[in-house]
Amino acid sequence: MDKLPRPVRILLGVSGGIAAYKSPDLVRRLRERGAEVQVVMTAGAARFITALTLQAVSGQPVRDALWDEAAEAAMGHIELARWADAVLVAPATADFLARLAHGHADDLLSTLCLATSAPLFVAPAMNHQMWANPATASNMALLKDRGVTILGPGEGDQACGETGPGRMLEPDQLAELTLSRLSAERVLSGQRVVVSAGPTREHLDPVRFISNRSSGKMGYAVAQAARDAGATVILVSGPVGIDPPAGVEFVAVESAQQMYDAVHRALVAADIYIGAAAVADYQAPAVAAQKIKKSAEKMQLELVGAPDILVSVAALTSGRPFVVGFAAETENVEENARAKLTRKRVDMIAANRVGDGLAFDCDDNSLLVLWAGGREEIASCGKPELARRLVALIAKVRGSRRRTGAVAAVHG
Ligand code: CTP
Repeated sequence: MDKLPRPVRILLGVSGGIAAYKSPDLVRRLRERGAEVQVVMTAGAARFITALTLQAVSGQPVRDALWDEAAEAAMGHIELARWADAVLVAPATADFLARLAHGHADDLLSTLCLATSAPLFVAPAMNHQMWANPATASNMALLKDRGVTILGPGEGDQACGETGPGRMLEPDQLAELTLSRLSAERVLSGQRVVVSAGPTREHLDPVRFISNRSSGKMGYAVAQAARDAGATVILVSGPVGIDPPAGVEFVAVESAQQMYDAVHRALVAADIYIGAAAVADYQAPAVAAQKIKKSAEKMQLELVGAPDILVSVAALTSGRPFVVGFAAETENVEENARAKLTRKRVDMIAANRVGDGLAFDCDDNSLLVLWAGGREEIASCGKPELARRLVALIAKVRGSRRRTGAVAAVHG
């Protein structure tokens, strides 16, 4: 785990499967590796294992009810959701995974999973037929797509006497996988990242503006992934219909000029700039003070160039961050994106095909990421997962660039 100033905090969710008998061992394995563990059980789990056992090994009172006034007074469920650096549900039963996939919040554990912005890990444990059932398979695909990490299941003898995939991984393996994955995910620990997102609005008069269909989902997912990777994040956003992720500094803007100003203010001491906004290329030379009246059959709009934020950041001569742009293309994606990489002098460009219902305002997307001397395709998946992979790639390319830069400096 990256050097947090305190132990890593794992919220361990135990749902009602026979593998719950291994949960006390899992708590011990996590604690052995330096983690602080808070256990939350479902009602089903309490039929397999007692809260007292888990309290004894975790050293913390175990939580099992959403409506427990005394426990809520000590640490409310939202506070608990914020407390966690990661949530690990082990064992995760078929029923719990179904409830998680469908966003239920009918007990404390499912509510916490919905309320937390921490990375979520699940260790499925069930009969092999239940695991193979298409309902379970589609729930798993949904969860994976949303960025949930699925640990296992393992294969072998099952408590029901049958053999096949569905066994919970062993506690030692689960502890190791969770903590090493967390450490691998905190690739931007201590870095300052500025993300711009959403559309801009270029006003023509007090009631009209020109804008575009950007939903902001990709940029918001990137801001969240950068935060999860340990960065301090400032999100500068045009008007969108979604809430900013918790734990990022948020700056709301409307026009390209406002976004330009806000981004440059936010860039002080920034390490990385990710321009995911769909910024207007043109703006009105001046906003009419009064509503423009209908006066003729035809009208012509005159527009002038809006500032190109990405180009301006890439051109900074002092305090220039690592600059990542996006390229929305309707045709010749790779060729156009490569041209943009060179023309805008950015370090990396993430290109996607737009139009025909693709990319804008939808939940799935795929990206072709290009940089000088490299390319990587990130296949279609949900935007949170896509953002997580993009952030990991940014950290990798930037890291290797800095290492070779350091070597060049030594030799130069
Ligand atoms: N961008 C910007 N400021 C602008 C226009 C674009 O910062 N005024 C950034 C976007 O945030 C994105 C990248 O430039 O990271 C590419 O945006 P895109 O719309 O694909 O390209 P354009 O520069 O508008 O070029 P074209 O319209 O010719 O494709």
